This record gives sequence, structure tokens and C-alpha cells, in this order.
Amino acid sequence: MTMKLNRRNWLKSTSLTTAGLAVGSSSLFATTSKNQDISAKMRFWEWENQTFNKPKDLWNLKARLLANENPYGPSPKTRLTIMESVGKGNRYGQGDAMKLTEMIAEKEGVPKEYIMLGPGSSDLLEKTAITHFLDGGNIVSADPAYMSIIKTAKNMKAEWKPVPLTDTWEHDLAGMEAAIDSKTQLVYICNPNNPTGTITNGKNLWDFCSKVADKKLVFVDEAYLEFMDPKDQLSMVGLLNEGKNVIISRTFSKVHGMAGLRVGYIVALPSTLEKIQKVTRSNMSMNVTAVKGAMASMGETGFIDSCRAKNKACREYVCAELGKLGYDYLPSHTSFVLFPIEMDGKTYLEKMFAESIGVRSFEVFGKTYCRVSIGTMKEMELFVDAFKKVMV
Ligand SMILES: Cc1ncc(COP(=O)(O)O)c(C=O)c1O
Repeated sequence: MTMKLNRRNWLKSTSLTTAGLAVGSSSLFATTSKNQDISAKMRFWEWENQTFNKPKDLWNLKARLLANENPYGPSPKTRLTIMESVGKGNRYGQGDAMKLTEMIAEKEGVPKEYIMLGPGSSDLLEKTAITHFLDGGNIVSADPAYMSIIKTAKNMKAEWKPVPLTDTWEHDLAGMEAAIDSKTQLVYICNPNNPTGTITNGKNLWDFCSKVADKKLVFVDEAYLEFMDPKDQLSMVGLLNEGKNVIISRTFSKVHGMAGLRVGYIVALPSTLEKIQKVTRSNMSMNVTAVKGAMASMGETGFIDSCRAKNKACREYVCAELGKLGYDYLPSHTSFVLFPIEMDGKTYLEKMFAESIGVRSFEVFGKTYCRVSIGTMKEMELFVDAFKKVMV
């Protein structure tokens, strides 16, 4: 049975009053989550655990909005470079990987010994977990958070210590610091955060990392940083120049539009990289065409700016449409938007897939949410049409 969700029954379901509501704005979530019973069910529902009839051929979806992919990439110049380099596929790409490492080091303002490439940043998140949780221990992170490093850590027999995001959907930095104990091996921060799309104040995060990294390794995942307004982007890489024990991960999968090509990297102290190096083939694991593509893409600032601008316009469109329908949403600074729905997640996804629209569903603080990635304007229109059919 489909339950129609309008602002009134959404409010009823969350025991909110109309005071302070701004129609279609993101302010609601900035002020209200304390009302929720966060003790009931804090951990978010992982996609991997969802068993239902997903279409096998995701290529033929009318709108593929389920993995925060960039619908515009790779850039035309990057595509050309990749095509030209296909003939080099018989050779290992370590030489080009070294050149890419040097380019990244220059961009990040650190020596090249501080950079490690990987086939996607998730590969490096996982290898960090493998090497740091061999003897168990615990990992402190926000809840909800991006699960890659946490999932691997848990499978290495580590304990996960989740600390709920604050009322304003920021990391609870004081709470996270308090959760650290003698068994903590690593503190994981994702900023902007996935699946919420929300940000933690850069200055506060800097101070937190600076302090905590003196006693524990801090991993900051910056996969979506480039979607923020450039003036607000504050990478934690600078902390390495102060000798702080932090690891920063970045990826070519998002704003560069190269998710399927698999290039990511971490920036860390050489002593930290040495430990992770033990379980990698490092540059030998890199795909030669993808590395060439990444080098080309690094110079594509115009393309990146246009992706950021189009992403923002499409995100504003979808948020406005949700607002008109009486839905609210978390204030996103990324290429996806999270909002609560009044339907069982599995049923919702099946109905959306039946309309050929791929999205994701998560359970956060005991409520079901939809996470829709930002695609092209056409895809967002198709999403809105299907959403109205399924929910309204
Ligand atoms: C926060 C975050 N970190 C890392 C990744 C992994 O990206 P990749 O392995 O493609 O670099 C993702 C992918 O969605 C992500 O959302």
C-alpha cells in the first residue's frame, strides 16, 4: 500500500510543530533531529543487505541515480587521452602512475612520498582497514557514515563505535573524541558526509584533527569536497605539513566523472603509507588508461567547474520539487540528496525500479530515507515524475 506523504503527515510522523518551518528550505533539518528517538535504531541500512528484484542491467535505466556518479564525465579531452592510450594496455602502468603521483603531490603541496594511488579510493580505505585492524581494536566514526572502511574493519574483527551526527547533521566532534579509548586504532570522518550530503564546519574539523591526530590516526574521506563552493572547500591535507598523523582520501570517481575507470589516492605521512604498502602492489595495480585519463582530467578545470555548477542547478531543482510536494530534505553540499519517505525502503526501491529509476534507500535513526544522486536535468525530471507516481 502506498502512503501519501505530505507535509502534514510527515510532521505528524515526526512530532514536529509548524513553528520555524520554511517551505522547501533545508532549515527544517538543521534544527529538529533531537526530537527523534536515536537510540531505537541508529545504524543505517546497508545496500548490500537489501534483497529484492533489482534490474540486472543498470545501463538501461532511464535515470541511474544510485551511486553518486557524475553523468557528464569523463571530460572530452580525458576520453580522447584514454582512447589514445588503449594500445598501451599490454604494459604495466607504473611509469605513468609515478608521473600522476608527482602531479598530485604538486597539487596537494606535499612531497611525492606522501601520495599513494589506488584503483579507486575505496580500495585504499579497505587496505587501510586491513593493515590497521589486524589485531582488532575499534574504529570511531559518525553514524550514519560511508561504510567501506567500517565494513572492512568489522570483518577484521574490529568493533565499530558509531557516534550519531548532531542536530545539524554535522559530526559530533566532542562525542567522537569522548568515544576514543585505548583500543581505538583509527577515527574516520567523511566530509562532506555520505549518505547525508551534509558538512561539518571545516575550521572545527581542522582543530579536531589537529588535536586527535596527536594520539590516534585520523582518516578524512574527502570524496565530495569538490562539489562544495570552492571558497568553502577546506582540505585537511595541510595538517600533514604540520606533521599530523592524518590520512586524506580523494577520488577521480566523482567530480572528474571517472567512477568506472577506478583512480583514487590517499595523502599521508610516509610512515603511515609504509604500513599500508605492505598489502598493495601499489602503482602496479593501476590501470594504464585510467592513469592517463586522470592526468588529462587534472588539467580540466573548466570541465570540473561546469560539473559543479550543473550539479548545483539540478540539486536545487530536485530540492525545490520535493519542497513543492511537501517533502523536506537534508542540506546537501554534494552530488546527492537524502530525504525521508513514508514507505518501506524495499517496496519503494522496487516501485522506483519498475519506473526504470535507480535510487537508494537507507534507514537512519529509525526512519526510511531515499538517497537520490544528482544526474542530468532530464534525469532529475524523470525522477520527479516517477516519484510523484510512486508516492503522491
Ligand atoms: C564517501 C565516499 N568515499 C569513497 C567512495 C569510493 O569511491 P571510489 O572507490 O570510486 O574512489 C565513495 C563512493 O561512493 C564515497 O561516497
